[in-house]
Amino acid sequence: MQSIRLYHFQQRLDPYSSAQSMPDKQGLPPADNARNIATVLQCVKLEFPVYFSAFCNRPQVRQVSPNPVGMTVLMCMNGEASGANAPSHYTVRIHMLSRFPEFSTLLGDAVHCERTPGPWPDSLMPLISAESIDAARHEISSWPGYEPTPIHSLDKLASDLRIGNISYKDEAPRFGLGAFKALGGAYAIKQVCKHHGTDITVTSATAGNHGRSLAWGAKNAGCKCRIVIHAGVSNERKQAMEAFGATVDRIDGNYDQSVEIAARDAELNGWHLISDTSWPGYTEPCRQIMTGYTLIVEEIIDQLTPDDFPTHVFVQGGVGGLAGAICAGFWIRFGEKMPRTVVVEPALAPCLTESARAGEPVEVNIREETSMSGLSCGKVSMIAWYILSRGASDFLTVAESGVAPAVRLLASGNAGGGSIVAGESAVAGLIALIASAEEVNLRHTLGLDETSRILLIGSEGATDAAAYARIIAGGD
Ligand SMILES: Cc1ncc(COP(=O)(O)O)c(C=O)c1O
Repeated sequence: MQSIRLYHFQQRLDPYSSAQSMPDKQGLPPADNARNIATVLQCVKLEFPVYFSAFCNRPQVRQVSPNPVGMTVLMCMNGEASGANAPSHYTVRIHMLSRFPEFSTLLGDAVHCERTPGPWPDSLMPLISAESIDAARHEISSWPGYEPTPIHSLDKLASDLRIGNISYKDEAPRFGLGAFKALGGAYAIKQVCKHHGTDITVTSATAGNHGRSLAWGAKNAGCKCRIVIHAGVSNERKQAMEAFGATVDRIDGNYDQSVEIAARDAELNGWHLISDTSWPGYTEPCRQIMTGYTLIVEEIIDQLTPDDFPTHVFVQGGVGGLAGAICAGFWIRFGEKMPRTVVVEPALAPCLTESARAGEPVEVNIREETSMSGLSCGKVSMIAWYILSRGASDFLTVAESGVAPAVRLLASGNAGGGSIVAGESAVAGLIALIASAEEVNLRHTLGLDETSRILLIGSEGATDAAAYARIIAGGD
């Protein structure tokens, strides 16, 4: 039995914009408004049955009779809507039929950027190149404990979403640290030590995973490590860094403030700042960190057959370093045949999406911390932005309500690929994929269909074991 009302999407419709017979904005009889909504919805190519309801921005004319529909749309508006009461817009909700009844999510924003990427641009060569990718691969794959991380096929989910296939690159086992970040910070420390020796202190701000990589890398290299965390970072994450011998200072503010404090402390104390974000005048260790992340792409190229090669990559963004590296890795190896890069952020921390909308880096205020703690960033990384602003075609945001169901979906094995352990920050791409594949407009805009081959980057496992256990037990 299928259930309804599980996936929602909202679209604002201006009832006047496509009106054929609307005289002016004033005095519209309700029936005309209703007819107009029907007109607009019929323009949308409905590929499968939907249920929808609608309401407008005047509470007094909010009663609308929703009609279950297949390919035909029929809406009845009730109530008075004339003169000053005339609504200026309607919100239409479309509820998709779903085979994942426990999964409820809300897709936030969607910004599409027209891209026709050619070869990897010369202007980006100084950031990452085929040679620097080879060097990082050569070095990191020689470290004790190195193994390519697995790819799982989410075949059940793919058939449910009517998508060709979905591959999930699972970064949970990466060097026993639980996240892809092990590739970046530790690699940058190695490069710094090559030039400055090991009698140094490295430092950075972190939401947890980058700091764990630095603490581990510093211990392996034999140098000291000081980490700055913000108020929202869990004690479990703090202790994981301390277990590798790092000194961890907690500040009162948010992630962006911890980045500033770490930079200031490094300057004052002569420590080496190994930040996973960048800004004008500070790019170098960050560039190496991103180069380290490109090993994920190299492994994927080895692991997938040409028939499975992705048409789309859904990758979550904090400051954009991971997304930029994945985009660059495919772009450098495949030129214009690179997959389409879809960047996904929490609606509570949409700095990349807002920057894409503005066409330049935009800072956002983090008013509330997202449970996807690795993605809680208000400022984009400058060098990641250079890449994403040229190479990424879509920027989506997702609501918090999707996180726990997505973590549980992977753990249950119901998506296919067996039981997968994914932390909160790992599932943003999955949430966006499900929500957009089942939303008619976005499915079309993103070019998702039965021939699509989707790659998800599962960027972490249960890096906060207590939070993970709460979710698995049914919490949010
Ligand atoms: C698990 C996880 N996924 C994704 C990200 C986002 O990476 P970036 O900040 O490079 O965009 C982070 C960042 O900490 C993370 O920890």
